[in-house]
Amino acid sequence: MLYTLIHTIHIFSVFIYGGFLLIDILFLSKMKQSLSEEEHAKAREAIMIHVRKVVPYALMVAVATGVYMFLNVFGTISEDGMSSFQMMLSLKAFLGLWLGFRGINQKLFGIQPWVFKSHLFPFSLVVIIILLSQFMYL
Ligand code: HEM
Repeated sequence: MLYTLIHTIHIFSVFIYGGFLLIDILFLSKMKQSLSEEEHAKAREAIMIHVRKVVPYALMVAVATGVYMFLNVFGTISEDGMSSFQMMLSLKAFLGLWLGFRGINQKLFGIQPWVFKSHLFPFSLVVIIILLSQFMYL
């Protein structure tokens, strides 16, 4: 029951985080096309004030719930080495932790350890993570 709850929270938090990246790439970045530079900066900030209150925390929740589940499902490595599930889960966890580490540094300390110029790169990582999350069970 607890695991299912944590799993559900994980899905909702990655939905909020990934959802914002997608909306930014598809729609918000297009505001430049119809607004002046000054208007665009103002409009973007009006949205980002609210984004900053939610999205970084959703990412932190995704990482915390992910670590909990990882510790529960990874299992022990057999003598033959890691199973394909363990390999894909490790890669997924690494990419998720990287996004999380970067996001937390940015939010709490104002540091951008690996600068992402647009949200396209983190979103591509989210897509890869989602694919790994599904194919690791095959
Ligand atoms: C932004 C980063 C992340 C995204 C987008 C993401 C996305 C997902 C998705 C879509 C699932 C599949 C849910 C399902 O099909 O039911 C999942 C499951 C899982 N995630 Fe994440 N995740 C992220 C971060 C992490 C991190 C950092 C870890 C571990 C350190 C992690 C560990 C897991 C585990 C162990 C599962 C499998 C749960 C299960 O099936 O029982 N995730 N994740």
